[in-house]
Amino acid sequence: MWPFARSSADPVVRLFTPARAGACAAIHAASFHRGWSAQEIASLAAESSVLAHVSLDSQEKTVLGFSLARHVGEEAEILTIVVDPARQGRGLGRALLQTQLDALSALGVSEVFLEVEAGNAAALTLYRKLGFEQVGERKAYYAKAGEPAAAALILRRRA
Ligand SMILES: CC(C)(COP(=O)(O)OP(=O)(O)OC[C@H]1O[C@@H](n2cnc3c(N)ncnc32)[C@H](O)[C@@H]1OP(=O)(O)O)[C@@H](O)C(=O)NCCC(=O)NCCS
Repeated sequence: MWPFARSSADPVVRLFTPARAGACAAIHAASFHRGWSAQEIASLAAESSVLAHVSLDSQEKTVLGFSLARHVGEEAEILTIVVDPARQGRGLGRALLQTQLDALSALGVSEVFLEVEAGNAAALTLYRKLGFEQVGERKAYYAKAGEPAAAALILRRRA
């Protein structure tokens, strides 16, 4: 038997369903200053150009993270990716993003873009490890109370 077979206790990545929107909104709100409501997430995910995935525990009961990407022709943009803060750093973000990239590729997408705050080390590491490279920068893009505004980096990954 293959010694490194996936364990049945491992989290899984599945397509988003509207019943998961509330849990996704709670996870989004825990990480972002302006969280997206369950309705906003459900409406976005329902768009025909949007691909939405969730990371679930092995029992497929608890939402651990989610990601949304919009694709038009050969281009796509990662709209958001977020993992429950209590579950970060365990490979869930990588699994989610890799699943989205594979699914986008299967749809004929050859270039994927995203925007990330310059100081977001976890996200930048994840993106670079999955082949994204910086192609642009918007200086002083993210306003922050009492702090200098942070730059937004534009990253691209070619298939
Ligand atoms: C960005 C995010 C989705 C990454 O998900 P995650 O499950 O924590 O990441 P993973 O455990 O899959 O790690 C992916 C890679 O990034 C690296 N990484 C993870 N956290 C890191 C950190 N805090 N600092 C530096 N590198 C880090 C890991 O080493 C890993 O590389 P490896 O697979 O070769 O070991 C998650 O941190 C998150 O939800 N952040 C808040 C929301 C956010 O900022 N989203 C991105 C907006 S652009």
